[in-house]
Amino acid sequence: MKYQATASREVWDRFIVFEGIDGTGTTTQRNLLSETLRTRSIPFHSTAEPTDSEIGRLIRKILAGDVRVRPETLAYLYATDRNEHIFGEGGIREHLDAGEVVVCDRYFFSSLAYQGSACGPELPERLNQGFPLPSLLVYFELSPDRALSRISGRGVPDIFERGDFLSQVSRAYEDILNRCADQGLRVIRIDGSRTIPEVADDIQRAVLSAIEG
Ligand code: TYD
Repeated sequence: MKYQATASREVWDRFIVFEGIDGTGTTTQRNLLSETLRTRSIPFHSTAEPTDSEIGRLIRKILAGDVRVRPETLAYLYATDRNEHIFGEGGIREHLDAGEVVVCDRYFFSSLAYQGSACGPELPERLNQGFPLPSLLVYFELSPDRALSRISGRGVPDIFERGDFLSQVSRAYEDILNRCADQGLRVIRIDGSRTIPEVADDIQRAVLSAIEG
């Protein structure tokens, strides 16, 4: 698959995004990073996609298998949820304008990787082309096997939590990240197989250096 992920987009300062396949530990690390920022009295906003809006709740029902839609419909829904999340009232743009650091668990790179794998790259590319770039993308690397064994301890898997699909998503991420890095996006790759404190240390260092310029 070929992606033109970052052509002619704005880059937003102090906007940090975490990405990775399911089970890589982004939620745990987002919470730990929040603690670090709080301790240092750095104003921040911690958030995630899908959001907890009505649109996000519908997405979660689809992920749980309670509502069935075509893969393209899900691509539209993620982009709709994102548009409000970025530009809507109380959204990411407002927090950045207020001088806060924004840490966001998943962003349009997830749509390019997941929906790109589920329904082909063209639609997610088109739906996501208007969204700005973060100033730092933190990518959590973990083999699909390790990721799946972590997920399997969590209860009922969602529609994307299958080995074959996550392997495909992982390959799509590689392609997207290479292209984004080529086009100037600041990307750091984190080895998600290490201990939680080791991973947290790396992230803290990268994020503090990115926001301190
Ligand atoms: P996430 O909240 O990270 O998973 P969890 O509920 O296990 O913490 O994300 C939910 C799922 O949504 C995950 O499988 C990735 C998927 N997703 C997409 O397919 N496209 C997107 O644009 C986003 C933001 C998430």
